[in-house]
Amino acid sequence: MPADPIGDDFCGANDPGVVEPMVEVLAELAGDGAVLELAVGTGRIAAPLAVRGLDVTGIELSRAMAARIADKPGGERVAVTIGDMTTAQVPGEFSLVFLVFNTISNVTTQEGQVAVFDNAAAHLRPGGLFLIEVGMPSLRRLPPGQDTVPFTVAPDPAGGGYVGFDQFDVVTQQFTSNHVTVSADGSGRFRRIPFRYAWPAELDLMARIAGLRLKHRWSDWNRSPLTADSTKHISIWEKPPGPDRTADPAHESVVPADADGVFVSRPSTDNVRDDSDGCQSESSRARA
Ligand SMILES: C[S@@+](CC[C@H](N)C(=O)[O-])C[C@H]1O[C@@H](n2cnc3c(N)ncnc32)[C@H](O)[C@@H]1O
Repeated sequence: MPADPIGDDFCGANDPGVVEPMVEVLAELAGDGAVLELAVGTGRIAAPLAVRGLDVTGIELSRAMAARIADKPGGERVAVTIGDMTTAQVPGEFSLVFLVFNTISNVTTQEGQVAVFDNAAAHLRPGGLFLIEVGMPSLRRLPPGQDTVPFTVAPDPAGGGYVGFDQFDVVTQQFTSNHVTVSADGSGRFRRIPFRYAWPAELDLMARIAGLRLKHRWSDWNRSPLTADSTKHISIWEKPPGPDRTADPAHESVVPADADGVFVSRPSTDNVRDDSDGCQSESSRARA
């Protein structure tokens, strides 16, 4: 049984075999530019990046978590701002912004997750990258009529044990991670943490709203391709090099504003329907 099943070493997250491949990939993606970690936590990844000589900044909601960064080698070189990653701003322009360990799911509304993408994009230099590591929603493990997926059942030989399970609401895309720890004396603790899941396609749309475009999608830090059985994805979106996309006339033509500033949808000629009742006839499809 893990000592603290939801602490920062959950699932061996601090093991060198987990941290080193992440740091390797992140350092390569950053090149010689500055790096911003959203939800930096205790500096598990940020501190080793600073050891490699990168200029590392973090945003973190919890003062208690952030206070532990300085205990790690390199941690004293990580500049930390306490704030919410949906809105908090830090000075500088970054070649890489990243958000790992499923933490996009800690933001439990679609609006909030969109704001994270917008905020990440606002901190990127043109050509900069935004990386997210997040589990695939494990809905394929839900039989019809069931809403709960266990992920750990660990009896303790001394008595008691630990049970972890996720519970999904597939209508609202909300889920909770549930952690039940029972001590040998029978006393126990039940912790329930709320999350929101989103499929990669929805995250791509959030990225697009923020002016970013998909560059890579992997299933692990060895850059393996995503498959139907992948349990997580690492997705990387790029801020296009060059001027701000919202100033680009090509962007305006996708969603044009009318004279009153109201956004209207104007079908392109590709979508124009030929017949008066709005249904495309066989003959018009043949012509297209
Ligand atoms: C699972 S830990 C991951 C920490 C670190 N990124 C890592 O990989 O070790 C999640 C962290 O996200 C922080 N967090 C959650 N929501 C946040 C938000 N809206 N803004 C900033 N930090 C947030 C929590 O306080 C916690 O430290």
